[in-house]
Amino acid sequence: MPYPYKTTDNYYQRVFAYFATVSLCYTRRMRVVKLELDHFRLYERLRLELDTDEVCFSGINATGKTSLLEAIYYLGTVRSFRFAEDRDLLRHGANLFAIRAEIERADERQMLALTYSRGGKQVAVDGERCTRLSELLGRLVVCLFTVEDLDTIRGSAARRRRFMDLLLAQVSPVYTKAMGEMTSTLRQRNAALRAEPFDPVAVAVWEAPLARACAAVTALRRSTVDELSHLAPQLFAELSGSQHHLALDYEGAIEETRLPAEQLEEPFVQLFRKNRERDRRRGYTTKGPQRDDLALTLDGSDLRRYASRGQQRLAMVALRLAEADFLGRHTGTKPVFLLDDVASELDDTASSRLLPALRERVGQLIVTALPDDLDRLGIQGRIMQVEDFQVTPTT
Ligand SMILES: Nc1ncnc2c1ncn2[C@@H]1O[C@H](COP(=O)(O)OP(=O)(O)O)[C@@H](O)[C@H]1O
Ligand SMILES: [Mg+2]
Repeated sequence: MPYPYKTTDNYYQRVFAYFATVSLCYTRRMRVVKLELDHFRLYERLRLELDTDEVCFSGINATGKTSLLEAIYYLGTVRSFRFAEDRDLLRHGANLFAIRAEIERADERQMLALTYSRGGKQVAVDGERCTRLSELLGRLVVCLFTVEDLDTIRGSAARRRRFMDLLLAQVSPVYTKAMGEMTSTLRQRNAALRAEPFDPVAVAVWEAPLARACAAVTALRRSTVDELSHLAPQLFAELSGSQHHLALDYEGAIEETRLPAEQLEEPFVQLFRKNRERDRRRGYTTKGPQRDDLALTLDGSDLRRYASRGQQRLAMVALRLAEADFLGRHTGTKPVFLLDDVASELDDTASSRLLPALRERVGQLIVTALPDDLDRLGIQGRIMQVEDFQVTPTT
């Protein structure tokens, strides 16, 4: 097992869980109190008040439930969770879309806005235009579980890197900046690797700045994964009622990643130097955080290959719950948790345990469900009917 959780960590795990619970009691809650959409997906114009901590959008298929969650998520992360291009989000025939939300954190309220046209994206906070899109990050603290989340576990490493990237982008401007630097220096080094005639010096000049960015990215991903790996196994056991042990580990390009960022720079410099010839032959940088993975195991075996689909799904839910805790701790705010169509994904036991586990950890719970699944989920808050591009409160 890559991380010696079972043998040494029981005591620390309990202490950690205690402090995590205590600190969460003092955490402020985040809520979306108003949502406004113009020409977003199938919505021409939507004005919606959300006045409870628990909201369920209920409706039959293709009525626009997931699109509502997508809009909220977009404001939090400036990305669509559906891997959609921005222009796909434009209502057919429109040339501009807007998403606005009034959010509440403790007693503070803020109006976040994002507009997209073919000219690009613009964001504003309380009516003031921001110079950079990243200024929106971290304001609406948000977490999401969807049906497609299973791909995070079953799919390629890119999906799991994305999981880490989206999470860290919400808590660490340092991470966002380092990722930007890593991407641009990688592009430069790759271009130099492919240049004719080949000039090793032109490749080498990018290696020190690339190593600096890689070191920052790796250190933050490593500590995040370590933190999640304290929480997720416990949550997995809680939801499944089983003794199976879920474990997480960060698989980096260099051997020892549990070091401060400054001490990771040199190993990366050496890695790039060592691989220069091979990278030259391949035409790109073959090793680095751009290829890393988050390894998931159940009782020591690869979760992707040996666990049942049900177990994989529960592992993903546990990861998302751990993420909500993580966000709570690092932002001082219990996040808004978006849960898309989960009833169709989980068995009765897990469904009935999920919402109570979530209620403790999140500021607001926004759920979508088919009308037939409402009872199984045990929704306590307001139910809103989604039909013909209209959303109307029913309870
Ligand atoms: N850009 C768009 N413009 C207009 N309609 C869209 C656009 N994107 C998706 N749709 C429509 O939205 C509907 C799906 O919405 P969705 O939020 O996924 O519904 P639900 O989650 O209730 O099944 C589909 O009917 C689809 O055709
Ligand atoms: Mg849907």
